[in-house]
Amino acid sequence: MTKFTIAFKLSAVLAACATCFTVQAAEPLKIGLVLPMSGPFSAYGKQIEHGARLYLQQSGGSFSGRKVELIIKDDTGVAPEISKRAAQELVVKDKVDILAGFGLTPSAFAVAPLATEAKKPMIVMNAATSAITTKSEYILRVSHTLPQVTAPIATWAAKNNIKKVYTLVADYGPGQDAEAQFKKTFTAAGGEVVGEVRTPVKNPDFAPFLQKIKDAKPQAVFLFVPPGEQTIAFTKGFAERDLAKAGIRIIATGDLTGEDVIDGVGDNALGIVNSMQYSEAHNSPENKAYVAAYYKAYPKDRPDFMSVSGYDGMQLIAKTLEKTGGDATGDKFMAAAKGLAWISPRGPISIDPQTRDIVQTIYIRKVEKVAGKLQNVEFESQANVKDPGKQ
Ligand code: PHB
Repeated sequence: MTKFTIAFKLSAVLAACATCFTVQAAEPLKIGLVLPMSGPFSAYGKQIEHGARLYLQQSGGSFSGRKVELIIKDDTGVAPEISKRAAQELVVKDKVDILAGFGLTPSAFAVAPLATEAKKPMIVMNAATSAITTKSEYILRVSHTLPQVTAPIATWAAKNNIKKVYTLVADYGPGQDAEAQFKKTFTAAGGEVVGEVRTPVKNPDFAPFLQKIKDAKPQAVFLFVPPGEQTIAFTKGFAERDLAKAGIRIIATGDLTGEDVIDGVGDNALGIVNSMQYSEAHNSPENKAYVAAYYKAYPKDRPDFMSVSGYDGMQLIAKTLEKTGGDATGDKFMAAAKGLAWISPRGPISIDPQTRDIVQTIYIRKVEKVAGKLQNVEFESQANVKDPGKQ
């Protein structure tokens, strides 16, 4: 080989590389969302998609110079096999860079091993069983955990003269977490759990449980069921069987009184004290801007905590790519995402670098009518709450 051919080959390689770098920089960022878009939990998918698209629209459709493509797969709710297949297709066929979504716990558990195997970041935008983030080093969560939102309401109840509580939870991860945390915090503060029941995740009939609760005469029932039809069925049965008239009140995590479902519950929701990370009525400039933008984009829907997780999940991706210069490769992405902090519509949040779970303010709220609309009105708060399920 002459000096000339070597120089020629070298410049050809460099030229090819230069094009390959430009192509890579312009490569779209593919985000695959696994969400319940049909079935009894389809509102979760709708809210999360709304929030995600809103953030994307506000970012001009790209993050760090990469055009963002959202690919949504419907997993229909509590159907782990469907969630798994959807995620496999997203990774293998669609070649997504990031997996996200996950409305319910069984879906997140089913996909976790795949995130590890494919080394893909997996952003959990609702599923709230504490252990989910321990199932893969590639999982980050931007929603909440049930222990995180349960401990504050248990403390509030004990401090406010509620001493005897009956717990009713859906019999799967988040319900079991809520039950365990409530009992732990409430009894440590001097309260007594006078009865407990777990209800089926799918199509529960609350009537016999409501009667049992009434007979046990607690001061309150603490409740976690996956929001939607079940929230409406429970609160309706509670009113019809006169539990409120018997002096029993409802306390809950704010999953129960999310803005997407609260109008369906109607005035039966009035006075329910609950704890959560997001309220449409949260008084901050960031939330006012969020709520206004949400109604402009989706005039028929109210923004709830799931929409904010969709929004913050996209915000987490955007902020991480700013740090990596647009690189979404699993290990680089995860290293850059840990410890990120920003102001969300819900308040200040950060990603715990140890657990990859969200750290946030939890508010105690009471359902009231504000300008004729049912709202979760915040009246106490606790800042920087980590997931007690991992402490
Ligand atoms: C869950 O399945 O993990 C789940 C569902 C609805 C919620 C919270 C958690 O509001």
